[in-house]
Amino acid sequence: MAMFKKEIYIQRRQQLKQDIAKGIILLMGNHEVGMNYADNCFPFRQDSCFLYFLGLNRPGLAGVLDAEEGIEMLFGTEPTIDDIVWMGTQPSLASLGEQTGMSLVKPFSELEGFVKKAIAAGRTVHFLPPYRPDNRMTIATIFNLPPAEVSQQASASLLKAIVSQRAVKSPEEIIEITKSVNISNQMQLAAMQHTVSGVTENYVAGKILDVAISAGGNIAYPTIFTVNGQTLHNHPTDRVLKNGDLVLCDCGAENSMYYAGDLTRTYPVNKKFSAVQKEIYEIVLGAEIAAAKALKPGVLFLDIHLAACEYIFDGLKQLGLVRGDTKEAVQQGAHALFFLCGLGHMMGLDVHDMEDLGEAYVGYTDTLKKSDQFGLKSLRLGRALEPGFVLTVEPGIYFIPELIDLWAVEKKHAPFINYDKLTAFRNFGGARVEENFFITRNGATLLGDPLVKNVEGIEAFMMGH
Ligand code: GLY
Ligand code: MN
Ligand code: MN
Repeated sequence: MAMFKKEIYIQRRQQLKQDIAKGIILLMGNHEVGMNYADNCFPFRQDSCFLYFLGLNRPGLAGVLDAEEGIEMLFGTEPTIDDIVWMGTQPSLASLGEQTGMSLVKPFSELEGFVKKAIAAGRTVHFLPPYRPDNRMTIATIFNLPPAEVSQQASASLLKAIVSQRAVKSPEEIIEITKSVNISNQMQLAAMQHTVSGVTENYVAGKILDVAISAGGNIAYPTIFTVNGQTLHNHPTDRVLKNGDLVLCDCGAENSMYYAGDLTRTYPVNKKFSAVQKEIYEIVLGAEIAAAKALKPGVLFLDIHLAACEYIFDGLKQLGLVRGDTKEAVQQGAHALFFLCGLGHMMGLDVHDMEDLGEAYVGYTDTLKKSDQFGLKSLRLGRALEPGFVLTVEPGIYFIPELIDLWAVEKKHAPFINYDKLTAFRNFGGARVEENFFITRNGATLLGDPLVKNVEGIEAFMMGH
């Protein structure tokens, strides 16, 4: 079980207890989940907050931190002889406690009674909104809440304190994220090498998975490798690649320390961009480069997103697909016919870092709320950047026939969009470029080694393989 040294977890918990100041903090670990029957489980993935504060990649644990008394307890189940017969030698609860610097360990069966007693004694017990049904049920039982109300009762102060800690990555985290991005680079290169006419999307996705698993981790999210790049989360299928297709490959590794990478490249199956593929791709690439240059502390990511929208609108204007005043068009949301998602998101232990803790805390603030405009409502990160943030930059241009038809019928943003010119692009698909950055004191650094991304570089790499 790969972990940082235990002093790091002790210090993180110390900081959390200090920030929360009053009451008890309950951190639920994840459990094994049966895939098609109880003993045939999905690959185990620990909860990211649990990993951040305790580092223990084992199912069936919970941590309790007393913010006032300072006491910390690890709840779990001692391995039985049946567990050992089935899974080999298992660490005792005490040795798990030792690894994370918690000397007090208790049977999991006592968690409910312990928390109930604290509540009865008038203590506040802070918990996070659970995203898995088993933890939702446990919390519902302990706190005597209807399961549907559990998330609303989660502790806002705990959410805020955890987001402020996890948002700023420490040097040892940057080392791990860099490793993940470099594995993700290898996944991307493997995909480019195996992209040829006649193989299926699934075949290439298998080559991507091979790199992630062989590097000692896994994929950080389901791979997107598709000729239908306009569909934002399209997963590989048995579709056979053919010359003329443009593929969008969005894949990333989770390394052995559970940190994510998240990269996208878009390229032609026949190794050479057509004139129109090149035109669209280079608008996206230009938007990505400009956005990356604009990253620095104090700047609203929302403003960098809006600048990317303008860049894309201007590029499409050059191609004759749109018209009119760019700023006005973007302000009204006309660009969102083509760039309908956000420019990026935080990344860390989760690919969309801390998404379960709520965008209101992770990507926005009390004074900057998320817009509900189509396009902007999908921007996960809007707030001012701070040194230590890790995020993705991932502009794209997508041609979704159903959306084009819908808007055309409604004459939506008609002054800005040349609907008659879009017919030729109905089957284009989509293009995206995605890289990962670390915000420094006065700018931003690309995470991982540079990976081919301009047209010439991609074509040269693909021709060489
Ligand atoms: N891979 C998911 C994303 O780019 O947000
Ligand atoms: Mn991605
Ligand atoms: Mn992403």
